[in-house]
Amino acid sequence: MIVPGKFTVDDQEFAGKRVLVTGGTKGAGEAIVHRLSAAGAMVVTTARSATEALSRTLFVQADVSTLAGTETVAAGVMEQLGGIDIIVHSVGGSKSPGGGFAGLTEQTWQEELSLNLLAAVRLDRMLVPHMVEQGSGAIVHISSIQRRLPLHESTIAYAAAKAALSTYSKALSKELGPKGIRVNTVAPGWIHTTASEAMVKRLATHSGSDEETARQGIMDALGGIPIGRPARPHEVAELVAFLVSERASAIHGAEYVIDGGTVPTV
Ligand SMILES: NC(=O)c1ccc[n+]([C@@H]2O[C@H](COP(=O)([O-])OP(=O)(O)OC[C@H]3O[C@@H](n4cnc5c(N)ncnc54)[C@H](OP(=O)(O)O)[C@@H]3O)[C@@H](O)[C@H]2O)c1
Repeated sequence: MIVPGKFTVDDQEFAGKRVLVTGGTKGAGEAIVHRLSAAGAMVVTTARSATEALSRTLFVQADVSTLAGTETVAAGVMEQLGGIDIIVHSVGGSKSPGGGFAGLTEQTWQEELSLNLLAAVRLDRMLVPHMVEQGSGAIVHISSIQRRLPLHESTIAYAAAKAALSTYSKALSKELGPKGIRVNTVAPGWIHTTASEAMVKRLATHSGSDEETARQGIMDALGGIPIGRPARPHEVAELVAFLVSERASAIHGAEYVIDGGTVPTV
């Protein structure tokens, strides 16, 4: 079977697996939902607003940057799936204004940490005990290369939150590995999503240039992308699908960078 993205998928690989993908209505999260569903998983996803594309996916509407929102999601997962085998924490992002550290208010810091760190921490706290009880599970936290290559103009808080997420993920892996649960992190560089394409258009309009120039400007700001383009959502989804599968049964406590070579150091 071929899913968007043109990789061949074993449509039974995740048969019977109960999966939560946070932030699965757009971007990389949406591609992960499609990839795991195409491989037979029962997938619940979550976002603040539903989309029509969700017709075949179970959905819980909630703002996971709040404690109450994560409680709603955890309860929805147990209600709709009756248990949990795989969690992919894809929700994340930054709305920080430009202007460096001084432009980041107390509220902005709280929002960035809540969405990019605490959503995963809280959902794990609520759902991982079920995995511990059954003695199996797989978790992927979607971090960012900004955790080691922070962009200082507007996303310090996002980068710091993602660094904390990566450290948290590693710590969690130490505790959960002996209990049969694998925990890994995926750190993407720039992903070519609908939102990032809209950003390219905005930048092009704002600077009076064309989209190709704006796209190149973003790549230059990152110090260049050696493969010459951002990663595509389905490429991130493929990596995640591998990490939560039995094919990766000895991969644990690891961070996989998917950035076309952006991070310039080992
Ligand atoms: N895009 C990139 O270039 C890039 C680079 C490095 C790392 N990443 C990381 O990769 C992951 C996916 O990013 P993406 O750019 O593909 O995402 P995206 O296209 O911005 O989609 C975000 C998803 O999360 C949901 N969401 C956002 N805020 C939420 C909230 N408070 N509560 C519940 N759901 C919420 C959105 O739906 P609603 O808006 O309806 O809530 C949507 O489904 C994130 O962790 C991001 O930090 C992305």
